[in-house]
Amino acid sequence: MGRGNSKACCKGHISKCFVNYCFGQVYSFQRKKPYRFIFLLVVVLVIIYVTPTSRTILKQPRLSEVRRYGGSTSDLLTAPFPVNEVRHVAFLKVHKASSSTVLNIIYRFGFQRSLTFVLPRKGNYLDNGVSSIAKRKVLPPSLNKTYDMLCNHVIFNKSIFGHYMPRDTVYIAIVRDPYERFRSAYHYYRTVYSMGYLKHGPTGADHFEQFIANQDIYEPTNPHYSYTNNRMAVDFGFPTKYFKNSTKMLEYVHDLDLTLDLVMITERFDESMILLRRMLNWSFKDILYIKQNSLKNKPKNNINSTLMDKVKKFSELDYILYDYFYEKFDKRVKQQASNFSNEVSVFISIREQVARFCLTATSNETYLWLADTEWSEAFTISYIDCKQIKASELKFLSILVSEQKSRISRTGVNRKFFDSIPDIHFRKRFRYLPQRVKKKGTETFKNELTYTWE
Ligand SMILES: *[C@@H]1O[C@H](CO)[C@@H](O)[C@H](O)[C@H]1NC(C)=O
Ligand SMILES: *[C@@H]1O[C@H](CO)[C@@H](O)[C@H](O)[C@H]1NC(C)=O
Ligand SMILES: *[C@@H]1O[C@H](CO)[C@@H](O)[C@H](O)[C@H]1NC(C)=O
Ligand SMILES: *[C@@H]1O[C@H](CO)[C@@H](O)[C@H](O)[C@H]1NC(C)=O
Ligand SMILES: *[C@@H]1O[C@H](CO)[C@@H](O)[C@H](O)[C@H]1NC(C)=O
Ligand SMILES: *[C@@H]1O[C@H](CO)[C@@H](O)[C@H](O)[C@H]1NC(C)=O
Ligand SMILES: *[C@@H]1O[C@H](CO)[C@@H](O)[C@H](O)[C@H]1NC(C)=O
Repeated sequence: MGRGNSKACCKGHISKCFVNYCFGQVYSFQRKKPYRFIFLLVVVLVIIYVTPTSRTILKQPRLSEVRRYGGSTSDLLTAPFPVNEVRHVAFLKVHKASSSTVLNIIYRFGFQRSLTFVLPRKGNYLDNGVSSIAKRKVLPPSLNKTYDMLCNHVIFNKSIFGHYMPRDTVYIAIVRDPYERFRSAYHYYRTVYSMGYLKHGPTGADHFEQFIANQDIYEPTNPHYSYTNNRMAVDFGFPTKYFKNSTKMLEYVHDLDLTLDLVMITERFDESMILLRRMLNWSFKDILYIKQNSLKNKPKNNINSTLMDKVKKFSELDYILYDYFYEKFDKRVKQQASNFSNEVSVFISIREQVARFCLTATSNETYLWLADTEWSEAFTISYIDCKQIKASELKFLSILVSEQKSRISRTGVNRKFFDSIPDIHFRKRFRYLPQRVKKKGTETFKNELTYTWE
């Protein structure tokens, strides 16, 4: 192919002629030995620049740049945090329904922005076993602050939550397949917590089947003391005096539906995260997770249909709750734009990369760079981010509690707000701060464990 050919075609199409001419020029140019190398180099560079993976490498910041931002709480590229994100969230923590995993997400979000949580003064429950939030169990907000987030164990009651949380709070919860939740709770509270009624229940190889066969005998009389008797219904605040009345439950679920902005599904966790993110305007980095608090080496219990029927009958309230919100969730997913599933798969691939990085990262010298996608801006994951993502629920809680206590001791309490919260069980002589103890010249709080991220 030479100039002659190009000239010949010029009689036809002008554009075709031009293309042919150019090819001819390039061809003869790169045949000249000194230029051949340069030509190949240019081609390679263009390919590198055009492909997404190599673009990522080129755009990757230097470690010193990451360090400048502390490599920790503030996002390297998008800090300060976006203004449209929702910062008032109440999450109903349902026992054994992947809620520790959601909790970690909410803790991280609030911690990084120094938000004020409704936190337990001691332990990890906000209720007193029977009612919803017990005021005497709660740490007050510090001066000029009100609560932003509520996510610790508590029995749901919208009107009581409303005393603590701002009007524009988004209410979220999670449900799990009732049989799977029951099985998980049974083994978890029997093995890890040695709960009396489970430990003193049936023994022998088929104890699980035996328990199901005679569940009404083994269950505590008060459902509040059980983790296996329609515990989702209990956590969602269904009054136990109506436990025998499934019509009442149906009505109650409809009421819940009006109150709760999103009920997520454990079995569809990644889709739940994307719905959550879309509703709260949170970023991919905010909703990253590594599974938390699930029992290792779970016994597999495949029960026969007779026993399954028994479970369905006994856990009727939980099935009503689950079936209702599952259907609602499914509808909601179908109503999303057709690119929803694409967003889910992009998120899954990102969180898998982060999990791989975090499970092997061993020093604060390393970080992971994630390029932008059509759904998210580029961001980095530092060693400290990994620590937070992997932190156990109790460790994270103790860090939040000690931060809140030191904030209160620095600035004092927002008394006007805290005193306005009604609670008939609340004692007048309330110590706004838990008792301090002197320890070798320094003052610390009683029972306080001080953890750091290291
Ligand atoms: C999310 O952000 C968009 C714009 O960025 C805004 O229009 C919308 O109101 C926000 N959603 C919520 C729930 O605040
Ligand atoms: C609380 O608000 C008052 C009045 O606006 C202000 O003077 C004070 O600095 C604030 N204190 C804190 C700790 O934010
Ligand atoms: C929620 O709490 C209020 C105030 O204590 C109470 O009147 C109401 O009955 C409770 N709701 C449920 C569903 O228990
Ligand atoms: C169950 O609740 C429904 C609706 O509140 C009520 O009409 C019905 O009488 C209740 N049934 C029993 C047995 O209490
Ligand atoms: C189901 O399993 C239970 C307990 O293992 C057993 O007693 C019962 O006979 C089984 N029923 C059927 C129909 O297989
Ligand atoms: C997803 O689809 C919706 C509706 O068609 C559109 O508004 C939105 O921009 C799309 N998002 C992306 C990232 O493609
Ligand atoms: C990394 O950890 C070491 C030892 O704990 C500390 O001295 C150093 O400042 C840390 N570097 C960064 C970037 O945080």
